[in-house]
Amino acid sequence: MRAARCTEYGSPGGLSVVELDGLRPGPGEVLVHVHAAAVNFPDVLLVANSYQVPAPLPFTPGSEFAGVVAELGPGVSGPPVGSPVAGAVLTGAFAEQVVVPVASLRQVPEGLDMVHAAAFHVTYATAYHSLVTVGRGTAGEWVAVLGAAGGVGSAAVDIATRLGMRVVAAASSQQRLMVARKLGAEAGVDYVHEDLKVRTRELTGGEGVHLVIDPVGGDHAEAALRALRRGGRFVTVGYADGKIPRIPLNLVLLKDLVVRGFEIRTVRQYAPDAVAAADRALAAMVRDGMRPLVSRVHPLAGVATALTDVAERRTTGKVVLDLTS
Ligand SMILES: NC(=O)c1ccc[n+]([C@@H]2O[C@H](COP(=O)([O-])OP(=O)(O)OC[C@H]3O[C@@H](n4cnc5c(N)ncnc54)[C@H](OP(=O)(O)O)[C@@H]3O)[C@@H](O)[C@H]2O)c1
Repeated sequence: MRAARCTEYGSPGGLSVVELDGLRPGPGEVLVHVHAAAVNFPDVLLVANSYQVPAPLPFTPGSEFAGVVAELGPGVSGPPVGSPVAGAVLTGAFAEQVVVPVASLRQVPEGLDMVHAAAFHVTYATAYHSLVTVGRGTAGEWVAVLGAAGGVGSAAVDIATRLGMRVVAAASSQQRLMVARKLGAEAGVDYVHEDLKVRTRELTGGEGVHLVIDPVGGDHAEAALRALRRGGRFVTVGYADGKIPRIPLNLVLLKDLVVRGFEIRTVRQYAPDAVAAADRALAAMVRDGMRPLVSRVHPLAGVATALTDVAERRTTGKVVLDLTS
């Protein structure tokens, strides 16, 4: 089978595509023929060896995929061979085959093709839980979404709009803000050229937003926290900026703010009911026509370019590898 390979930590430009032996599933595992795999920011971090969890060399990167069940391992009774499935792993998805524990597979929401199924779960579930499960966002509230043209950000804009929230998108250029406007954002702040706190307050009638969704971190986090109104909620989701922000706690005290975090990798263990509710809500939105924003599809041979574009902030929405071409 063909697979992307990381043989040395560093920039994604060093990734290559090689021929490897086919895989077999062990006990409790399933072999999936991968049709499409989405690029996520942590894939870049794993290749650079700067993710929380290291991947020993050599390894095949890729953490999110959609495909078809090809073989069940000992002790596994389903899903049947031939079923469409999607899943998330730490590594291994940028390959024609991946072996995963059966528990990590999920059904493909009805109506999604393989490319959109691969691009859906990580960003949309993260955005939903950040907005609703943790952020407690409700219709009519203002929500500021940072990195609003990125994977998590665009999903958050899309879902918040569908739930009747009023979105202030924040991104690094007018062109990127336009992406968020098309997904339903009511207003935008170019946080490179404008003051995020001042502009967000102006756009919300002087009071500030009720909720912040922050997958970016860095200096934007404190500015966004300062753009909250009294009693507002701040959800920290990721640090695409590279710098983990340190927040002066007096800001939290002075306005009675709530700061919470969300992590998709562990939510299923500690909040299974919330996961089931989110999956139902997201499936209903897909039935209503919601689709992740896929801005580019590369063949597997384009893996280095695909990850480099994500690392260098050139992409909007999701970038997907098509393993069938
Ligand atoms: N907590 C969770 O469960 C969870 C789940 C998924 C992802 N994440 C994390 O959330 C973050 C965003 O993920 P994503 O999939 O949305 O990534 P993405 O598609 O690459 O988007 C990240 C956005 O961050 C902004 N950004 C600001 N500074 C940047 C920099 N130095 N390099 C790259 N981007 C920068 C960019 O928008 P502008 O150019 O407009 O600023 C970009 O669109 C990552 O840290 C990821 O690990 C967390």
